[in-house]
Amino acid sequence: MHLQIADVSKSFGYGARTKEVLRQVSFAVNSGEFVALVGSSGSGKSTVLRLIAGLERPSAGSIRMDGRPLSAPGSDRGMVFQKYSLYPWLTAAQNVAFGMELQGRPRAEIRERTGYFLEVVGLADAARRLPRELSGGMQQRVAIARALAAEPQVLLLDEPFGALDIQIRESMQEFLHNLWRRTGLTALLITHDLEEALLLAGTVHILAPAPGRIVRSVTVDLDRSSLAHLRVSRPFLDLREELAQCLRGLEPALVA
Ligand SMILES: Nc1ncnc2c1ncn2[C@@H]1O[C@H](COP(=O)(O)OP(=O)(O)OP(=O)(O)O)[C@@H](O)[C@H]1O
Ligand SMILES: [Mg+2]
Repeated sequence: MHLQIADVSKSFGYGARTKEVLRQVSFAVNSGEFVALVGSSGSGKSTVLRLIAGLERPSAGSIRMDGRPLSAPGSDRGMVFQKYSLYPWLTAAQNVAFGMELQGRPRAEIRERTGYFLEVVGLADAARRLPRELSGGMQQRVAIARALAAEPQVLLLDEPFGALDIQIRESMQEFLHNLWRRTGLTALLITHDLEEALLLAGTVHILAPAPGRIVRSVTVDLDRSSLAHLRVSRPFLDLREELAQCLRGLEPALVA
């Protein structure tokens, strides 16, 4: 799998009201890679994801998967959003099964795969519970299970842990990292949290705002055998600080 975003620009509106949101954004995500895009609020992160998801069309440039242009939503891309997007009236298992039902898979297969993916995200015991009976972190794990169950080629995550408090957030980062290691999934994570991006992704792109453009790309080649150790290790902290300075330099100047 090779996802290629090439020279993608996006403007909204017409004429004098045109707003340029993205300018010539280029990057790639290959099979088994974990890539992150980091930027401040309003830098166009969600727009990048919506373009890849096929929910918007680029104004210029191209988005291709294995060389084929992407222009419509498809089950080859699984989405997980910040806000819990579970159907509140369906149980965890029914939520996971939902996408597979749309795909028209046989009933027995759906049942088996639902059990399997709830197991993968550690929620086998919560199968019959409704979203409101689950914690925020558990709901996001159901959303991830639902996305994975449709067998996407790439998982697109838009601030998936943004609504969670810090402890849960850290345990969800561990969870996603372990899931990536175990299943070899391919993921693109969008976040404003630099630490999260550096912990999880082998490649991190920094998106500057107004218009959104990639100003820095780094390969994060650090020992991830323990995220808890990595978080406080010298090379990690140095890299985080260096990139934090880069991000701070991108904020609009505060003029008195
Ligand atoms: N459909 C649209 N029509 C007009 N403007 C839009 C549309 N979608 C996004 N924008 C504008 O594009 C800019 C980038 O929005 P986007 O949601 O991609 O940013 P973001 O980086 O995801 O921000 P956040 O961190 O707050 O989620 C914003 O200024 C927003 O107002
Ligand atoms: Mg966003």
